[in-house]
Amino acid sequence: MRGTRKFDAAVVRRATEADVRALGEFRWEFKEGGGSSEDRAAFVTRYRAHFSQNPALHWVVEDDGSVVGMATLRLAAKEPSPGKRHDAIGYLTNVYIKPQYRGRGRGTELLSALIDDARSRHVELLIVWPSDESRPLYRRLGFSGQSDPLKLILVEDGG
Ligand SMILES: CC(C)(COP(=O)(O)OP(=O)(O)OC[C@H]1O[C@@H](n2cnc3c(N)ncnc32)[C@H](O)[C@@H]1OP(=O)(O)O)[C@@H](O)C(=O)NCCC(=O)NCCS
Repeated sequence: MRGTRKFDAAVVRRATEADVRALGEFRWEFKEGGGSSEDRAAFVTRYRAHFSQNPALHWVVEDDGSVVGMATLRLAAKEPSPGKRHDAIGYLTNVYIKPQYRGRGRGTELLSALIDDARSRHVELLIVWPSDESRPLYRRLGFSGQSDPLKLILVEDGG
């Protein structure tokens, strides 16, 4: 029964150059969906270039000693306002857990760490376009909204 199972703690951390291959392969698995015209190895090479050319806050989660999931936060700076410290908004994307590791709390742990980090960076709010599958997870984490994108307000009135 869900909720009664126990799993070991995961390791959640920022991705490094050493994770780029795993990130590219996860991205391919996530988006390939069968019938892609792009070869997996070629895509991973293209992803590697994207990773170095487009800096972002990439996160990974490890389970059983290997990387099993990822998430990316892209920040957009707001123009500063006097007396307000929260000067960025965050676009959450690329959220993926390998199928065999789902339902173990890894997605929750990964996103909780990313959200805590965003708070510490004075990010005002996060937005995400959820998949149908991920909608309950985002709702549990506090994201809300009547239509997509869902948003998570980290500080009211720009802090
Ligand atoms: C959406 C996704 C990231 C969720 O990852 P996950 O690791 O399965 O997430 P969690 O395990 O934290 O939560 C999933 C379910 O497991 C349950 N769960 C969480 N921790 C648990 C635990 N310790 N023991 C048992 N069940 C647990 C939760 O209740 C949750 O159920 P709910 O979603 O119906 O509320 C994953 O399904 C995925 O990669 N999907 C494909 C890509 C995708 O849709 N990405 C989102 C793009 S916006």
